Amino acid sequence: MTPPLSARAEDLLELMDDPDCDPQLLAATYRRFGIVNHLFSGWGSVYRRVLRPRLERLERPARVLDLGCGGGDLVVRLAALSDRDGLRVEWIGVDPDPRALEASSSRARDGVEFRLATSSELLESGERFDVVVSNHVLHHLSPHELAGFAADSRGLATDVVLHGDILRSSIAYGLYTVGITPLAPGTFLRTDGLRSIRRSYRPDELATTLGDPWQVSTHAPFRLLAVAPGAAHE
Ligand SMILES: C[S@@+](CC[C@H](N)C(=O)[O-])C[C@H]1O[C@@H](n2cnc3c(N)ncnc32)[C@H](O)[C@@H]1O
Repeated sequence: MTPPLSARAEDLLELMDDPDCDPQLLAATYRRFGIVNHLFSGWGSVYRRVLRPRLERLERPARVLDLGCGGGDLVVRLAALSDRDGLRVEWIGVDPDPRALEASSSRARDGVEFRLATSSELLESGERFDVVVSNHVLHHLSPHELAGFAADSRGLATDVVLHGDILRSSIAYGLYTVGITPLAPGTFLRTDGLRSIRRSYRPDELATTLGDPWQVSTHAPFRLLAVAPGAAHE
């Protein structure tokens, strides 16, 4: 049965956030995020419509950061797309969770680096990037953490920030319940995916929560994209 989705289920915890969760299930979940994010996250269209034109305009190698990269699959996918387009890009994924770094490190390759860090540690270290992206991080954070994460991401970017996330909807909940069935065994994907949908925002809620200058749009089915200009100086 579909739970009421009229309001965010802000207090629901995801199984993989438990520091004592089963490490094998967690590792399998990180690995399978590659397929799930590829199928459902809509980053192919964000790359083509928003990211690629900006990278093309830079007349030097770009630096792009994935904040809260988890198992690292998004950075690796975006790196493959930019390689195919002949763009010179240095890709960096960071996450403060050592379990995520362990998962992402196996995906590192030329031009793709993974590090253990929070957004604020990176900001304090003086690192700057042309573009900062994230996937599925916003819904995960408390209101206080979200405000810090959004501000840090702008402080880290000279050009633009793109945060992609799920749009909370009962149709998405129903479709995910069915669609995840072949991919879920041996992972946390069913429980955590459904909890993520319940924790996620609707466009107006996210726009209100983030405030100016953030713009929130729906760029693909059941997806949100929050965009803001970078606030770092080149
Ligand atoms: C739901 S996971 C998303 C992982 C990955 N982006 C994906 O799409 O599969 C959210 C991640 O954000 C990370 N995170 C939370 N707060 C962060 C911060 N302030 N800076 C960087 N990463 C953060 C968490 O450690 C967690 O791995």
